[in-house]
Amino acid sequence: MLPITNFQPPFRITRASHVAITAKDLAASRDFYRDVIGLVVTEETDDAVYLRGLEEAAHHSLTLYQEKGEEAKALYIGLRVQRDEDIVSAENFFKANGIDYRRVEKPHQGPTIEFRDPVGTHIELTSSMTTVERKMQDFDEFVAGAPQRIDHFQVVSYDVQAATDFWAGLGMRLAEYTAKDGTDELWGSWMEVKGNTHDLVFTNGRGPRLHHFAYTVPDGISLLHAADVAGARGFGEEIDRGPGRHGISNALFLYLRDPDQHRVELFTTHYQFIDLEDEPIRWDISDARRAQLWGMPASRRWFFEASEFPDEPVLEPLLTAAPSTLEDYLQLH
Ligand SMILES: [Fe+2]
Repeated sequence: MLPITNFQPPFRITRASHVAITAKDLAASRDFYRDVIGLVVTEETDDAVYLRGLEEAAHHSLTLYQEKGEEAKALYIGLRVQRDEDIVSAENFFKANGIDYRRVEKPHQGPTIEFRDPVGTHIELTSSMTTVERKMQDFDEFVAGAPQRIDHFQVVSYDVQAATDFWAGLGMRLAEYTAKDGTDELWGSWMEVKGNTHDLVFTNGRGPRLHHFAYTVPDGISLLHAADVAGARGFGEEIDRGPGRHGISNALFLYLRDPDQHRVELFTTHYQFIDLEDEPIRWDISDARRAQLWGMPASRRWFFEASEFPDEPVLEPLLTAAPSTLEDYLQLH
Protein backbone atom coordinates (compact mmCIF):
# COMPACT_ATOMS: atom_id res chain seq x y z
CA MET A 1 0.00 0.00 0.00
CA LEU A 2 1.42 3.39 -0.92
CA PRO A 3 2.01 5.75 2.00
CA ILE A 4 0.43 9.15 2.41
CA THR A 5 3.01 11.90 2.86
CA ASN A 6 2.25 14.42 5.57
CA PHE A 7 3.13 17.79 4.05
CA GLN A 8 2.66 19.52 7.40
CA PRO A 9 4.76 17.22 9.54
CA PRO A 10 5.16 17.79 13.28
CA PHE A 11 8.79 18.79 12.75
CA ARG A 12 10.86 19.52 9.66
CA ILE A 13 13.46 16.96 8.58
CA THR A 14 15.82 18.36 5.93
CA ARG A 15 18.21 15.58 4.94
CA ALA A 16 20.21 12.45 5.69
CA SER A 17 23.24 13.93 7.42
CA HIS A 18 25.42 11.66 9.51
CA VAL A 19 26.02 8.11 10.65
CA ALA A 20 27.96 6.49 13.48
CA ILE A 21 29.45 2.99 13.48
CA THR A 22 31.89 1.16 15.68
CA ALA A 23 35.29 -0.20 14.70
CA LYS A 24 37.33 -2.90 16.39
CA ASP A 25 40.54 -1.28 15.14
CA LEU A 26 39.96 2.45 14.98
CA ALA A 27 43.19 3.24 13.13
CA ALA A 28 42.51 0.58 10.47
CA SER A 29 38.99 1.93 9.87
CA ARG A 30 40.23 5.52 9.76
CA ASP A 31 42.80 4.51 7.15
CA PHE A 32 40.12 2.72 5.11
CA TYR A 33 37.73 5.65 5.01
CA ARG A 34 40.50 8.19 4.40
CA ASP A 35 42.65 6.29 1.90
CA VAL A 36 40.34 3.79 0.16
CA ILE A 37 37.13 5.84 0.17
CA GLY A 38 38.70 9.32 0.20
CA LEU A 39 36.93 11.04 3.10
CA VAL A 40 38.53 13.90 5.03
CA VAL A 41 39.45 13.35 8.69
CA THR A 42 38.10 16.38 10.57
CA GLU A 43 39.13 15.35 14.06
CA GLU A 44 40.45 12.40 16.06
CA THR A 45 40.11 11.70 19.76
CA ASP A 46 41.19 8.72 21.85
CA ASP A 47 38.04 6.77 21.06
CA ALA A 48 36.50 8.43 17.99
CA VAL A 49 37.34 9.60 14.46
CA TYR A 50 35.18 12.23 12.74
CA LEU A 51 35.14 12.32 8.94
CA ARG A 52 33.39 14.28 6.23
CA GLY A 53 33.05 14.50 2.45
CA LEU A 54 35.10 16.98 0.46
CA GLU A 55 32.34 19.53 -0.05
CA GLU A 56 30.74 19.20 3.37
CA ALA A 57 30.83 22.20 5.70
CA ALA A 58 29.40 20.18 8.60
CA HIS A 59 32.02 18.88 11.04
CA HIS A 60 31.22 15.21 10.44
CA SER A 61 29.05 12.92 8.37
CA LEU A 62 30.70 9.70 9.55
CA THR A 63 31.85 9.01 13.10
CA LEU A 64 33.85 5.90 13.97
CA TYR A 65 33.81 4.90 17.62
CA GLN A 66 36.12 2.39 19.23
CA GLU A 67 34.19 -0.88 19.64
CA LYS A 68 34.49 -2.20 23.16
CA GLY A 69 32.50 -5.42 22.67
CA GLU A 70 32.89 -8.44 20.45
CA GLU A 71 31.18 -7.27 17.31
CA ALA A 72 31.19 -3.99 15.42
CA LYS A 73 27.78 -2.31 15.29
CA ALA A 74 25.91 0.45 13.50
CA LEU A 75 25.10 2.92 16.28
CA TYR A 76 22.60 5.18 14.53
CA ILE A 77 21.76 6.98 11.33
CA GLY A 78 21.47 10.74 11.58
CA LEU A 79 18.99 13.15 10.09
CA ARG A 80 19.05 16.93 10.21
CA VAL A 81 16.08 19.02 11.20
CA GLN A 82 15.78 22.61 10.12
CA ARG A 83 15.91 24.58 13.37
CA ASP A 84 16.50 24.07 17.08
CA GLU A 85 12.74 24.48 17.54
CA ASP A 86 12.21 21.38 15.42
CA ILE A 87 14.03 19.32 18.05
CA VAL A 88 11.56 20.58 20.65
CA SER A 89 8.67 19.83 18.30
CA ALA A 90 10.07 16.34 17.76
CA GLU A 91 10.20 15.79 21.53
CA ASN A 92 6.59 16.90 21.83
CA PHE A 93 5.57 14.58 19.01
CA PHE A 94 7.36 11.60 20.56
CA LYS A 95 5.82 12.30 23.99
CA ALA A 96 2.34 12.54 22.48
CA ASN A 97 2.81 9.28 20.55
CA GLY A 98 4.47 7.20 23.26
CA ILE A 99 7.81 6.97 21.46
CA ASP A 100 10.85 6.79 23.76
CA TYR A 101 13.58 9.30 23.07
CA ARG A 102 16.42 10.97 24.92
CA ARG A 103 18.36 14.21 24.68
CA VAL A 104 22.06 13.65 24.23
CA GLU A 105 25.09 15.91 24.26
CA LYS A 106 27.28 15.36 21.22
CA PRO A 107 30.50 17.17 20.39
CA HIS A 108 30.13 19.67 17.53
CA GLN A 109 26.35 19.24 17.39
CA GLY A 110 23.51 21.49 18.45
CA PRO A 111 20.40 20.14 20.20
CA THR A 112 20.33 16.39 19.57
CA ILE A 113 17.92 13.57 20.37
CA GLU A 114 18.00 9.83 19.82
CA PHE A 115 15.04 7.55 19.29
CA ARG A 116 14.01 4.30 17.61
CA ASP A 117 11.45 4.23 14.85
CA PRO A 118 8.61 1.65 15.03
CA VAL A 119 10.75 -1.00 13.30
CA GLY A 120 13.71 -0.49 15.63
CA THR A 121 15.97 1.68 13.46
CA HIS A 122 18.28 3.73 15.68
CA ILE A 123 17.99 7.38 14.70
CA GLU A 124 19.66 10.58 15.80
CA LEU A 125 18.20 14.00 15.01
CA THR A 126 20.17 17.20 15.27
CA SER A 127 19.58 20.77 14.16
CA SER A 128 23.13 22.03 13.61
CA MET A 129 26.84 21.23 13.58
CA THR A 130 30.07 23.16 13.88
CA THR A 131 31.08 24.31 10.42
CA VAL A 132 34.50 23.68 8.93
CA GLU A 133 36.20 24.47 5.64
CA ARG A 134 34.68 23.04 2.49
CA LYS A 135 37.45 21.31 0.59
CA MET A 136 35.59 20.98 -2.70
CA GLN A 137 38.16 23.04 -4.59
CA ASP A 138 41.22 21.50 -2.98
CA PHE A 139 41.59 19.26 -5.99
CA ASP A 140 45.17 18.49 -5.09
CA GLU A 141 43.85 16.64 -2.01
CA PHE A 142 41.27 14.48 -3.80
CA VAL A 143 42.01 10.79 -3.38
CA ALA A 144 40.22 7.50 -4.18
CA GLY A 145 36.52 8.19 -4.88
CA ALA A 146 36.73 11.85 -3.82
CA PRO A 147 33.35 11.56 -2.05
CA GLN A 148 31.54 14.86 -1.99
CA ARG A 149 28.79 14.46 0.63
CA ILE A 150 26.71 11.91 2.43
CA ASP A 151 23.44 11.24 0.66
CA HIS A 152 21.33 8.40 2.04
CA PHE A 153 20.94 5.33 4.20
CA GLN A 154 19.51 1.91 3.40
CA VAL A 155 18.01 -0.13 6.23
CA VAL A 156 16.87 -3.74 6.09
CA SER A 157 13.50 -4.00 7.80
CA TYR A 158 11.20 -6.84 8.79
CA ASP A 159 8.21 -4.56 8.07
CA VAL A 160 8.79 -2.18 5.17
CA GLN A 161 5.16 -1.03 5.19
CA ALA A 162 5.26 0.07 8.84
CA ALA A 163 8.57 1.86 8.35
CA THR A 164 7.36 3.61 5.21
CA ASP A 165 4.11 4.75 6.79
CA PHE A 166 5.92 6.16 9.83
CA TRP A 167 8.42 8.21 7.82
CA ALA A 168 5.79 9.41 5.34
CA GLY A 169 3.95 10.73 8.39
CA LEU A 170 7.07 12.78 9.16
CA GLY A 171 7.11 14.32 5.69
CA MET A 172 9.10 11.90 3.56
CA ARG A 173 7.96 11.28 -0.02
CA LEU A 174 8.11 7.99 -1.85
CA ALA A 175 10.24 8.44 -5.00
CA GLU A 176 10.49 4.81 -6.08
CA TYR A 177 9.33 1.46 -4.74
CA THR A 178 9.42 -2.25 -5.36
CA ALA A 179 6.25 -4.27 -4.99
CA LYS A 180 5.02 -7.81 -5.42
CA ASP A 181 4.31 -8.22 -9.13
CA GLY A 182 1.15 -6.48 -10.21
CA THR A 183 0.35 -5.16 -6.71
CA ASP A 184 1.33 -2.35 -4.37
CA GLU A 185 2.53 -4.72 -1.63
CA LEU A 186 5.67 -2.84 -0.60
CA TRP A 187 8.96 -4.75 -0.65
CA GLY A 188 11.23 -1.74 -0.74
CA SER A 189 10.64 1.99 -0.39
CA TRP A 190 12.94 4.81 -1.48
CA MET A 191 11.93 7.95 0.39
CA GLU A 192 13.23 11.49 0.18
CA VAL A 193 13.06 14.87 1.87
CA LYS A 194 15.89 16.80 0.20
CA GLY A 195 14.69 16.79 -3.39
CA ASN A 196 16.62 13.91 -4.90
CA THR A 197 15.59 10.29 -5.12
CA HIS A 198 16.19 9.19 -1.55
CA ASP A 199 17.38 9.97 1.94
CA LEU A 200 16.14 6.80 3.59
CA VAL A 201 15.49 3.39 2.06
CA PHE A 202 13.83 0.36 3.61
CA THR A 203 14.14 -3.05 2.01
CA ASN A 204 12.56 -6.30 3.10
CA GLY A 205 14.62 -8.72 5.18
CA ARG A 206 15.86 -9.63 8.65
CA GLY A 207 15.95 -6.36 10.50
CA PRO A 208 16.47 -3.77 11.63
CA ARG A 209 20.00 -3.71 10.25
CA LEU A 210 21.93 -0.96 8.48
CA HIS A 211 22.61 -2.18 4.96
CA HIS A 212 24.72 0.77 3.84
CA PHE A 213 25.34 4.48 3.98
CA ALA A 214 26.17 6.27 0.76
CA TYR A 215 28.36 9.10 -0.44
CA THR A 216 28.00 10.75 -3.83
CA VAL A 217 31.15 11.04 -5.95
CA PRO A 218 31.81 13.57 -8.74
CA ASP A 219 31.60 11.19 -11.72
CA GLY A 220 32.05 7.66 -13.02
CA ILE A 221 35.84 8.07 -13.29
CA SER A 222 36.03 8.78 -9.55
CA LEU A 223 33.99 5.67 -8.86
CA LEU A 224 36.28 3.49 -10.99
CA HIS A 225 39.34 5.10 -9.44
CA ALA A 226 37.97 4.16 -6.00
CA ALA A 227 37.69 0.56 -7.21
CA ASP A 228 41.29 0.67 -8.46
CA VAL A 229 42.50 2.15 -5.17
CA ALA A 230 40.57 -0.53 -3.24
CA GLY A 231 42.34 -3.16 -5.31
CA ALA A 232 45.74 -1.55 -4.88
CA ARG A 233 45.30 -1.31 -1.11
CA GLY A 234 44.16 -4.90 -0.67
CA PHE A 235 40.42 -4.29 -0.51
CA GLY A 236 39.54 -5.61 -3.97
CA GLU A 237 37.64 -8.57 -2.52
CA GLU A 238 35.73 -6.22 -0.25
CA ILE A 239 33.85 -4.80 -3.24
CA ASP A 240 30.67 -6.82 -2.75
CA ARG A 241 28.74 -5.31 -5.59
CA GLY A 242 29.40 -3.27 -8.71
CA PRO A 243 30.27 -1.30 -10.55
CA GLY A 244 26.89 -1.25 -12.20
CA ARG A 245 23.87 0.93 -12.94
CA HIS A 246 20.76 0.62 -10.81
CA GLY A 247 17.38 0.90 -12.46
CA ILE A 248 16.07 2.32 -9.21
CA SER A 249 17.37 5.88 -8.76
CA ASN A 250 19.59 5.72 -11.89
CA ALA A 251 22.72 5.46 -9.73
CA LEU A 252 26.07 4.27 -11.05
CA PHE A 253 27.19 2.36 -7.98
CA LEU A 254 30.02 0.61 -6.14
CA TYR A 255 29.66 -1.03 -2.71
CA LEU A 256 32.60 -1.74 -0.43
CA ARG A 257 32.98 -3.41 2.96
CA ASP A 258 35.13 -1.76 5.60
CA PRO A 259 37.49 -3.67 7.95
CA ASP A 260 34.51 -4.51 10.22
CA GLN A 261 32.27 -5.41 7.27
CA HIS A 262 30.15 -2.28 7.48
CA ARG A 263 29.07 -1.43 3.94
CA VAL A 264 29.60 1.94 2.25
CA GLU A 265 28.28 2.86 -1.18
CA LEU A 266 29.88 5.27 -3.60
CA PHE A 267 27.56 6.38 -6.36
CA THR A 268 26.91 9.14 -8.81
CA THR A 269 23.97 10.61 -10.66
CA HIS A 270 20.73 10.66 -8.81
CA TYR A 271 17.98 12.78 -10.32
CA GLN A 272 15.78 15.50 -8.81
CA PHE A 273 12.48 14.59 -7.24
CA ILE A 274 10.85 17.83 -6.13
CA ASP A 275 7.67 18.60 -8.06
CA LEU A 276 4.57 17.27 -6.37
CA GLU A 277 3.01 16.03 -9.59
CA ASP A 278 5.86 13.51 -9.97
CA GLU A 279 4.50 10.08 -9.19
CA PRO A 280 6.72 7.47 -7.53
CA ILE A 281 8.27 4.97 -9.94
CA ARG A 282 7.02 1.42 -9.37
CA TRP A 283 9.13 -1.69 -10.02
CA ASP A 284 7.93 -5.30 -10.00
CA ILE A 285 10.05 -7.29 -7.57
CA SER A 286 10.73 -9.79 -10.39
CA ASP A 287 12.12 -7.10 -12.70
CA ALA A 288 15.91 -7.56 -12.66
CA ARG A 289 16.34 -4.11 -14.24
CA ARG A 290 15.26 -2.50 -10.97
CA ALA A 291 18.52 -3.79 -9.45
CA GLN A 292 20.83 -3.33 -12.41
CA LEU A 293 20.35 -2.01 -15.94
CA TRP A 294 23.80 -3.53 -16.50
CA GLY A 295 26.35 -5.19 -14.29
CA MET A 296 26.36 -8.48 -12.45
CA PRO A 297 23.63 -9.35 -9.92
CA ALA A 298 24.45 -8.65 -6.28
CA SER A 299 26.37 -11.28 -4.33
CA ARG A 300 24.81 -13.29 -1.52
CA ARG A 301 26.77 -11.31 1.03
CA TRP A 302 25.36 -8.06 -0.38
CA PHE A 303 21.83 -9.38 0.03
CA PHE A 304 22.14 -11.06 3.39
CA GLU A 305 24.85 -9.31 5.42
CA ALA A 306 24.26 -6.00 7.19
CA SER A 307 25.22 -4.20 10.42
CA GLU A 308 23.11 -4.71 13.52
CA PHE A 309 22.21 -1.96 15.98
CA PRO A 310 23.28 -2.44 19.63
CA ASP A 311 20.84 -4.37 21.82
CA GLU A 312 18.24 -4.35 19.06
CA PRO A 313 16.63 -7.72 18.29
CA VAL A 314 16.70 -8.73 14.64
CA LEU A 315 13.32 -10.03 13.49
CA GLU A 316 12.37 -12.27 10.59
CA PRO A 317 10.67 -10.41 7.72
CA LEU A 318 6.91 -10.46 7.33
CA LEU A 319 7.33 -11.10 3.60
CA THR A 320 9.55 -13.93 2.39
CA ALA A 321 11.24 -14.59 -0.92
CA ALA A 322 14.66 -15.70 -2.11
CA PRO A 323 16.50 -12.99 -4.04
CA SER A 324 18.29 -13.84 -7.25
CA THR A 325 21.99 -13.61 -6.42
CA LEU A 326 25.27 -13.53 -8.31
CA GLU A 327 25.90 -17.10 -7.15
CA ASP A 328 22.56 -18.22 -8.66
CA TYR A 329 23.42 -16.41 -11.87
CA LEU A 330 26.81 -18.09 -12.13
CA GLN A 331 25.23 -21.53 -11.64
CA LEU A 332 22.78 -20.86 -14.44
CA HIS A 333 25.30 -19.49 -16.97
FE1 LIG B 1 22.26 3.28 -1.79
